[in-house]
Amino acid sequence: MVYLVPLKIAANGRYRTGRESIMIQIHKLVILIFIASYILPILAGRDFYKILGVDRDATLKQVKKAYRKLAIKYHPDKNKDDPKAQDKFQDINAAYEVLSDEEKRKTYDRSGEEGLQNLGQGGGDPFSSFFGGFDGFGGFHFGNNQQGNREIPRGGTLTMDLYVTLEELYNGDFIEIIRTKPVAKPASGKRRCNCRQEMKTIPLGPGQFQMINQEVCDECPNVKFVTEDKVLEVEVEVGMRDGHEYPFIGEGEPHIDGEPGDLKFRIREMRHKKFRRIGDDLYTNITISLLDALNGFTMNIDHLDNHKVQVKRESVTWPGMRMRLKNEGMPNYENNNIKGSMYITFDVDFPKDREFTTADKEAIKKVLQQPSSHQIYNGL
Ligand SMILES: *[C@@H]1O[C@H](CO)[C@@H](O)[C@H](O)[C@H]1NC(C)=O
Repeated sequence: MVYLVPLKIAANGRYRTGRESIMIQIHKLVILIFIASYILPILAGRDFYKILGVDRDATLKQVKKAYRKLAIKYHPDKNKDDPKAQDKFQDINAAYEVLSDEEKRKTYDRSGEEGLQNLGQGGGDPFSSFFGGFDGFGGFHFGNNQQGNREIPRGGTLTMDLYVTLEELYNGDFIEIIRTKPVAKPASGKRRCNCRQEMKTIPLGPGQFQMINQEVCDECPNVKFVTEDKVLEVEVEVGMRDGHEYPFIGEGEPHIDGEPGDLKFRIREMRHKKFRRIGDDLYTNITISLLDALNGFTMNIDHLDNHKVQVKRESVTWPGMRMRLKNEGMPNYENNNIKGSMYITFDVDFPKDREFTTADKEAIKKVLQQPSSHQIYNGL
């Protein structure tokens, strides 16, 4: 339809002559380019980068992060009355499915969404790995979906400890976990289901009857449990704390007559070689030589994301001295832009094995200019 416009101009142009005709040709070209620049992106499909709000060179991690944020915001459970949000949710999912897959992303970069259709898109379900099922929305379950009053039996909820490094908590990461899980599959035959206790009245004779309690069941299609491997992806979010729980709704133990329980990962912070974390603050110790303690020094600490933190002293540093570096602690979980502090406690390595000559001692005395003093006390 779009290309009809330039064609019409061409049709008009046919009745002109000479220079006029050339002018129209140029005119035509300009209009064509103008229209093409507006229409082509639409013909080529949706702009998945724009939908997720990431750059074209975004890493997989950035794509995942952007997706998760948007998916939470526009999840249908949370926006029941907003059809726009549901469209948006579909766009977000489509964008994620393509941009998180290396092959599909390459095809998309080359030839847009149309190119993907030729690829025969599998219609995959990005949720299954990322959020564990459609209503299982990892960590974010919005209200009770149509559960009604009848109590639905649920399988057990599992809680697993997930050990993560301080680096992972500082930078954020995605951890793939393979879960071998029994999945219900249709099987031949029927099975008893929805069993309940009901009262039944049996006449025993004239003027006499008995009420008995009996179990009544329905017939349901048979199912069998088949073990399947499933990849779950846990996002270690920046600034998460020890004990933080990350649930996958419906990934717990299955229940043949009801819903499966949940699977929860409990974040466990591993001990770190250099840093100890308390809240959002990091603590570390540095041992310096006596020379550096007296003369001052400059050194670097490799932080958890490998950025260098400069530690500089120009005056004397004593054993037990504490230095505070603002904004060099852990990022806050609620607001990653806020960071805690880093506290450095210094220890001084005295030259224990050195024997100083009388001349050395005199020289030290002269340099330090410190009267000899002794204080005896209890406690530091
Ligand atoms: C620093 O040294 C003190 C005293 O030896 C120790 O209790 C503390 O755990 C150390 N901190 C770190 C982060 O290693």
